[in-house]
Amino acid sequence: MQNKSIKNICCIGAGYVGGPTMSVIAANCPKLRIDVVDINVEKINSWNSNDLSKLPVFEPGLEALIKKCRGKNLFFSNKVEESIANADIIFISVNTPTKTKGIGAGFASDLKWIESSARQIAKFARKHTVVVEKSTLPVKTAETIKTILNSANKKNSIKNIENNNKTFSIVSNPEFLAEGTAIEDLQNPDRVLIGGEDDYSINLISDIYREWVDSEKIITTNLWSAELSKLVANAFLAQRISSINSISALCESTGANINEVAQAVGSDSRIGKKFLNSGPGFGGSCFKKDILNLVYLSRYYGLNEVADYWEQVVKINLWQQRRISSLVIRNLFGTLSNKKLAIFGFSFKANTNDTRESPSINISKDLLQEGAKLNFYDPKVNEKQILNEFVEIIDKENVLVSETAIKAVEGVDAVLVLTEWEEFKNLEWDTIFKLMRKPAWVFDSRNCLDKEALIRIGFKVWSLGNA
Ligand code: NAD
Ligand code: UGA
Repeated sequence: MQNKSIKNICCIGAGYVGGPTMSVIAANCPKLRIDVVDINVEKINSWNSNDLSKLPVFEPGLEALIKKCRGKNLFFSNKVEESIANADIIFISVNTPTKTKGIGAGFASDLKWIESSARQIAKFARKHTVVVEKSTLPVKTAETIKTILNSANKKNSIKNIENNNKTFSIVSNPEFLAEGTAIEDLQNPDRVLIGGEDDYSINLISDIYREWVDSEKIITTNLWSAELSKLVANAFLAQRISSINSISALCESTGANINEVAQAVGSDSRIGKKFLNSGPGFGGSCFKKDILNLVYLSRYYGLNEVADYWEQVVKINLWQQRRISSLVIRNLFGTLSNKKLAIFGFSFKANTNDTRESPSINISKDLLQEGAKLNFYDPKVNEKQILNEFVEIIDKENVLVSETAIKAVEGVDAVLVLTEWEEFKNLEWDTIFKLMRKPAWVFDSRNCLDKEALIRIGFKVWSLGNA
C-alpha cells in the first residue's frame, strides 16, 4: 500500500460478496487489518468455524484463503460499532433485494439495509472515513448515503465534541464476481471499477487493488457511471441468456441444434463465445433484481420504451422455466398424478450452494402443482435449504431429499437435470436406468449429459434446444 496511514478496513455484511472479497483483499494486503462484521450471529459463527466445510459460503479456493488469513489480518465478528469506529475505509456489502411492498414494490431495490448501515457509520465513525459502496445499488444511492452521513454528523457534533472531526467521502466500487468462480474472479478480475468525487479517495481504493491487479485494469469514473455500469453489466449478461434461451425453443421447433447455433454465432469475435449456454433460465440473487431495478429507474425517468425493452429479458426467463415444466408434463402423458420424479440440482448454477432465484424452485413448484412427488438431490445444497423453499406446499410427503443421486431415483418416472454439476455427467446411468419405472425419461435442461449414451442405455431423452 502506498498510503501507509491506512491500516483498518471494515466490511459491513459477511455474505457471498463480503466474505470472499475481504478474504482476497486480506490475502493480498497482509499489512491491512480487515474486520468483516454482520448482524447475523449464526453466520459469523460459521465463518469462525474450525471445520472449514461449515463456512456459510461454498466457493472453490475460499477455504484455503480463510485458513491462511483468519485470525491474522482477517476477522469475522458481530462487533459492528467497534469495527466502524476503528476503520479508515468501510465497505458496505449488505443485501439489496427487490422491494416487496410500498412504492416500487416488485421492481425497486429495498435499500433499508443500506440505510441502516449508513446510519451506523454516521453514528460510530470517529475520523475521516472513506465509505465504499460494494453492494449493487440504484444510480444516485450515494446521494442518499451522503445525506445520512452528513446530517448525523451535524447532530453528533452538538452532543459530542470528539465527533466534530469526522468526515466522509463516498466511493462506488461495484463487485463483478460470479458465484462458483468468486475467488478466481476476485484474484484475476477483467476490471475493477472505482467511481468517486475526489481523487484522494479514488486513489486510496485503487491502491488496495494495485497490490495484485494491473493498473490498466482499474477503471475510474464518476460516482453515477460506476453505480449505473454495474446494473448495465448484469442486464447485458442476462440479456444474452434470454436471447439464447429464446432461440433454444426455435431450435426444438425447426431441427436446428442450440449448441451448434451458439458455436456458429459466438465464433464471430464481435459477439463472443461466452455466456451463450442455453438452460432453464438464469437464477441467482442478482440478475432479476438488477434488471427490475433498471426497469424501475427507466420508468422513474419517464423512459418507458427503455423500461419495456429490459423487462422483456425477465419475461423470457420466466417463460423458459414454464416452458420446461410444461414439456415435462406433456411428455409424461399429460399428468403427474402418482408419478415420482428425481430433481438433480437445486443450486442456481454449479459450484455454489446458493439457491436464491434458482430455476429449480419455479420448475419444481409447477411439477408439484400437477401432483408429482419429487425427490431432490444436490451435491452442495442441504435438506433444510431445499425444504425451506416449499414451506407452503400442502402435501409435505411429496417433497423428499436424498443424500445421493442413486438414492433419489428409486422407482421414479423421470430424472430432471436442472443444475450442471460435473458429478451428474459421471453418474452410473445404467444403474439409474435399472432403478427407474419404465419408460424412463431424462430431461436435460442444461444440455450437459451424453444424449446418445443415454439413448443407448434405453432412456427416453429430451435435451434443451434439440429437436
Ligand atoms: P448476502 O445476503 O449474502 O449478504 C449480505 C449480508 O449483510 C447478510 O449476511 C446480512 O445479515 C448483512 N447485513 C445486512 N444489514 C446489515 C447491517 N446493517 N449490519 C451488518 N450486517 C448487515 O448478500 P450478497 O450476495 O453478499 O450481496 C450483497 C450485495 O452485493 C448485493 O447488493 C448484491 O446485489 C451484490 N452482489 C452480489 C453478488 C453475488 O454473487 N452474490 C455479486 C456481485 C454483487
Ligand atoms: C452474475 C454475474 O455473472 C456477475 O458478474 C455479477 O457480479 C453477479 O451476477 C452479481 O451481480 O450478483 P452469478 O449470478 O453469480 O453472477 O452467476 P452467473 O455465472 O452469471 O450465472 C447466473 C445465472 O445464469 C445462472 O443461473 C447460470 O446457470 C445462468 N447462465 C449463465 C446460463 O443459463 N447460461 C450461461 O451461458 C451463463
